[in-house]
Amino acid sequence: MKWFIRLEWRSYLLGILALLGVAMLGLIPPIMIGRFANLISERALTGAALGPIIVWIAIATVGQYLLRFGWSYFIWGTSARLERLMRLRLLNHYLEMDKPFFQKHRTGDLLAHATNDINQLQRVAGNGVLQLFDALITGVSVVAAMAVVVNPLLTIMAVVPLLGITLVAQLLGGSISAAFSAVQDMFSQLNNKTQESLMGIKVLKTVGEAAEDTADFQTKINDSIRATRHAERLDSLFNPAITILTGISFVGTIIYGGYLVQTGSLSIGSLITFVTYLSALVWPFLGLGFFFNNLQRGNAAYERITTLLAEQPATLDKKGLKQVPRGDLQIDLTTFQYPDATEAALQNVHATVQAGNTLGLVGPVGSGKSTLIQLLLREFDQYAGSIKINQIDIRDYDKDTYLPVIGYVPQDNFLFSTSVLENIRFADPNISLERVQEAARWAALHDDIMNLPDGYDTQVGEQGISLSGGQRQRLAIARALIINPDILILDDALSAVDAKTEQQILTMLHNQRQGKTTIIATHRLSAVVQAAETLVFEHGRVEARGTHSDLIQEDGWYARMFAAQQLSEKLDQEVTTHG
Ligand SMILES: Nc1ncnc2c1ncn2[C@@H]1O[C@H](COP(=O)(O)OP(=O)(O)OP(=O)(O)O)[C@@H](O)[C@H]1O
Ligand SMILES: [Mg+2]
Repeated sequence: MKWFIRLEWRSYLLGILALLGVAMLGLIPPIMIGRFANLISERALTGAALGPIIVWIAIATVGQYLLRFGWSYFIWGTSARLERLMRLRLLNHYLEMDKPFFQKHRTGDLLAHATNDINQLQRVAGNGVLQLFDALITGVSVVAAMAVVVNPLLTIMAVVPLLGITLVAQLLGGSISAAFSAVQDMFSQLNNKTQESLMGIKVLKTVGEAAEDTADFQTKINDSIRATRHAERLDSLFNPAITILTGISFVGTIIYGGYLVQTGSLSIGSLITFVTYLSALVWPFLGLGFFFNNLQRGNAAYERITTLLAEQPATLDKKGLKQVPRGDLQIDLTTFQYPDATEAALQNVHATVQAGNTLGLVGPVGSGKSTLIQLLLREFDQYAGSIKINQIDIRDYDKDTYLPVIGYVPQDNFLFSTSVLENIRFADPNISLERVQEAARWAALHDDIMNLPDGYDTQVGEQGISLSGGQRQRLAIARALIINPDILILDDALSAVDAKTEQQILTMLHNQRQGKTTIIATHRLSAVVQAAETLVFEHGRVEARGTHSDLIQEDGWYARMFAAQQLSEKLDQEVTTHG
């Protein structure tokens, strides 16, 4: 945190100077009140004597008011800047990170760091600094004033019990906030449980687990009640403890101070000054305790954030090649395992795709098609074996040169909340409307767009009209085609369009992408009939491979699947023509 203080020392200095002013001015009123009391006891109270007293108290009060504004301005401003700075850092860090990082940390935890931990830091930098300096400056100046102006021994007697307040605030304050966050935890568990039970109520009933579920619910409620009681009990100890310690201090003062006044070594006014000072001390001592306890939690939060910030992306570029990858694609994968998985997702995948050819990836659900695509997209770099383009390992290319060469249409495509036009030219907003329309025609989407209320300017996404699944897929294809990528990857990107449109798009790809590589993962085998080679995956391994005509001659998954799909296709057509 030193770097931050170095960065913001001016604000802190001004804030602390203001605080110092407040403390100094705060010393005046008790002295004046004491003087006033002395005047009364000496029966010397006149208008002329009272005048300066009132003026001094007024000056002190107004001055304190202004300076207080000054310190909150400087110190709160600083802590708000710290908060913003840390949030930005964390956000930028998240943006730099890759899949393994997000797989390791759950989104909820990352959000918690970005909110709770940063709030905790902000509390130390703002409130914490205030509490510390307020306690030190007010504490020291008031104690000094008590000792010098009034009586040293009396001061020691009065202040020692107040140290107990600091201790109580630190210890009990810590346990109280821990207890209340436990209550919060229990409560959110209870919430989750309620939600789960409501959503799953049919399932629970059908499998006859409703009784267990109710018991579980009961346990959670009891836990929650117990945690709340514990927190309340601790909390109800706090105020009495402070009151008792303050009481001890005051009683001691009155007994010994009274004795000093009796023996004539202290005026009644000085004793009143002293007692007024004493009440001004309670808050700083309390604040000091809160500060220590905030500091502890702030340190823990800071540690969590710095550990997170220190994490490097697993796919870090080691000064990658700036050369544009162009040429044959050579896949020689021995094994790949997801970071948190127990077994390999891919094993022994070998293939060569000559530049300009099409590679098909097929196989049952969860067989590894998308996983291979993730590796091509460099979402994960930790695998045994290699993937090369133009004889160079793709992990040696600079990511910024490597990725733009690829056009990728993901399995679950995404619409931004903006116009169709901006959605298609997302890669580059300077692309002309003509190019956008061309890409839309290639993706067999242009006619659909012309039928939308505002054509290319129609708003889509969250705030706009919703497109059909097939329209969304074709929009995603247009978005990928517009950059005319050397390598186009379609991950089940035609699943929601009808067979005729699919063939139309495939023919277009064939004609428009001469000399460019295309990789098509699909469940519908008609999409890979033209592929130079198709890999049939099963449990992360390549079970069969070849051209379409090779594969239908084998008696395997591919041939069976193709026959079944042809049949259902024919049935569909008959339904549409005769139905
Ligand atoms: N991020 C991930 N972390 C851990 N395991 C994963 C992850 N993504 C996929 N898997 C697992 O890897 C295996 C292969 O999944 P993959 O998504 O590659 O299959 P797929 O062939 O694309 O299936 P689909 O046809 O459903 O798209 C599956 O067992 C899946 O559960
Ligand atoms: Mg997939």
